[in-house]
Amino acid sequence: MSDIRRMLSEVYETMEISKAYSTFAEQHNIRSAPILTVIDDEMADLIAVHLAPRIAGRTVVEIGGGIGILSLAMASVAKSVFCIEANPMWAAAFTQVLLEKKRRNLSYLFGAADEFVGYIRADVAAICTHSDVEGMKLIGKQFAPEVIDVYGELIDGNPGGFDREASRLRAFT
Ligand SMILES: C[S@@+](CC[C@H](N)C(=O)[O-])C[C@H]1O[C@@H](n2cnc3c(N)ncnc32)[C@H](O)[C@@H]1O
Repeated sequence: MSDIRRMLSEVYETMEISKAYSTFAEQHNIRSAPILTVIDDEMADLIAVHLAPRIAGRTVVEIGGGIGILSLAMASVAKSVFCIEANPMWAAAFTQVLLEKKRRNLSYLFGAADEFVGYIRADVAAICTHSDVEGMKLIGKQFAPEVIDVYGELIDGNPGGFDREASRLRAFT
């Protein structure tokens, strides 16, 4: 198991039993599940290639960027990327990624995204989540005129490639 995967499984275990995390999520209006979907470079690179025509040379904000791997991949194409993440539980894995790979055109902002509205203006907001999709899209709209629900459009582009029931439930979780 890689260092990052090991760290993440420890984080998941801690969060499951942590009342402190539930209280934190409530206070910071985090409605999505604390589950990462982008935890390796291959996945991040595939998504960045998919987004490239719309983010190349532009300013991008990622809402709920997890441990930042997708933002890192987008920063190789975009002019600049702001990765906003509210959950401090990702910090260990996040720091490991930063130390190894952070680029200068990529900024990580720790806090609930609504705290940064008005300070950052982007061309495109991206969200990568299967839960609280609508809530995170609404936040994205406050940063950029174009909001990309990455999994939403991947599913629309290839409905047969994804579990039908899980895809339908995205709108409600
Ligand atoms: C389902 S996870 C996905 C994380 C990452 N995009 C990935 O795919 O690996 C959603 C993330 O969004 C974060 N999040 C949810 N609401 C947020 C908000 N209002 N501001 C900042 N981060 C938020 C959560 O803490 C969580 O890490």
